[in-house]
Amino acid sequence: MTSSSLLPAFLQAVMQGQPRALKDPHYPGWHLAPVTGLMNDPNGFIHFQGEYHLFYQWNPLGCSHQNKSWGHWRSQDLVHWQHAPIALIPGEDYDRSGCYSGSAVDNQGQLTLCYTGNVKFDDGSRTAWQCLAVENAQGGFDKTGPVLALPEGYTGHVRDPKVWRQGETWYMVLGAQDKHKQGKVLLFHSGNLTDWTLAGEIAGSGLGGLGEAGYMWECPDLFHLDGQDVLIACPQGVTKQEKRFLNTYPVTWLCGTLQADGATFHHGPLAELDAGFEFYAPQTALAEDGRRLLIGWMGVPDGEEMLQPTVKNGWIHQMTCPRQLSLKQGRLFQQPVTELQMLRETESGWQGLASQAPEIPAERLEILLTRTPGKSATLHFGNDDLVLTWSDCELCLARRSQENGEWQYRYWDAPATGLQILCDHSSIEIFINQGEGVMTSRYFPAQPATLSFSGEAELQVRYWSLRACMVE
Ligand code: FRU
Repeated sequence: MTSSSLLPAFLQAVMQGQPRALKDPHYPGWHLAPVTGLMNDPNGFIHFQGEYHLFYQWNPLGCSHQNKSWGHWRSQDLVHWQHAPIALIPGEDYDRSGCYSGSAVDNQGQLTLCYTGNVKFDDGSRTAWQCLAVENAQGGFDKTGPVLALPEGYTGHVRDPKVWRQGETWYMVLGAQDKHKQGKVLLFHSGNLTDWTLAGEIAGSGLGGLGEAGYMWECPDLFHLDGQDVLIACPQGVTKQEKRFLNTYPVTWLCGTLQADGATFHHGPLAELDAGFEFYAPQTALAEDGRRLLIGWMGVPDGEEMLQPTVKNGWIHQMTCPRQLSLKQGRLFQQPVTELQMLRETESGWQGLASQAPEIPAERLEILLTRTPGKSATLHFGNDDLVLTWSDCELCLARRSQENGEWQYRYWDAPATGLQILCDHSSIEIFINQGEGVMTSRYFPAQPATLSFSGEAELQVRYWSLRACMVE
């Protein structure tokens, strides 16, 4: 199908699907989600000429991973968002199996998208083109075609360009799989955004002391932060450990020093960016005031995603809240952006034994908690749809499998002194120790959901209900 033949079907899907999605009690009240169909990765996150732009992988035609297009939202303040014209629809020879993930840059005042044109063949093989598209006067995007074919030595799994400029040089990192089925991150450079030279592999399986670290690395993002270089990426095929890397695919970060000219990245160990059930393919952008911001997809591919109950209402997945990154003593911290405080309604507070705490409405909630060490406390979200147990040495988040009802667990395997928890109609984001750790998860409680407590720990609690904040 061509772009122009998909468009009428997209329009019909939105007209029919949006009312159903917005009526779903699990549809988020203040997070970004598709108005119908499937949304996955955030794409093209940028602050450009006074406004934030966030694009997203979108299949308007259903809850399957097909027809990948780029939806587009814009915002002045990261809290209130507007729909913008759909930016990319597959249909050219070079992107006919999907306009896959990528980034946005300011090229001499022109908002330019760098994305992967994915091409699947009947025999099951595939190829990928890295492509550009430029903004037009109508706020849409005109494709200008491929600028990079598959590099020698890699399979058809080469994708997700994250592009930035340093001085006069453009750089691009790409996720890749080499011919030995090892996941890698490739660094390229260019003087003009169209002619690209491979500088080398800067991280991946078998590199930088990592050992065996997966068969494919997706969605790399490389940036300078607080005096160091940070590489975020999504390695697929990393061995699960007792309390780490438990999702089908984790999101990881590496911190070190990049020598872009020599394409060497000296880095420390592979660390997990989020310990919750749903977090993948995050992307960062630089705010005007220099903050490094991150938004992630609150989903994970190839697990139980299709069993989520929203599928029967024709939509699936949402984004995380926007977060600010910082590096403290070599550790990557994430905190909700301060702009989100605009959503707070009246403040309440409580202090005492967890077992005596009042029930709190948790439909849309921000709650700050500290706990006196010694005894543990358990937080029950909804009708035990999500259970967080907080003891001296760890946090344990439990939820039942949508497939077989068995309890599943995720861990923050270190002491937690304080928590900041953000709830929406079907999601929770737990920021641990001012953002040293995060656990992001979906859950599907009957609404209006409540939060109740048990356990003998002494808790100090401040909380706010949050305003709903719809996209216009
Ligand atoms: C990550 C990912 C990317 C790809 C996109 C396709 O979730 O698989 O690697 O570009 O999704 O939607």
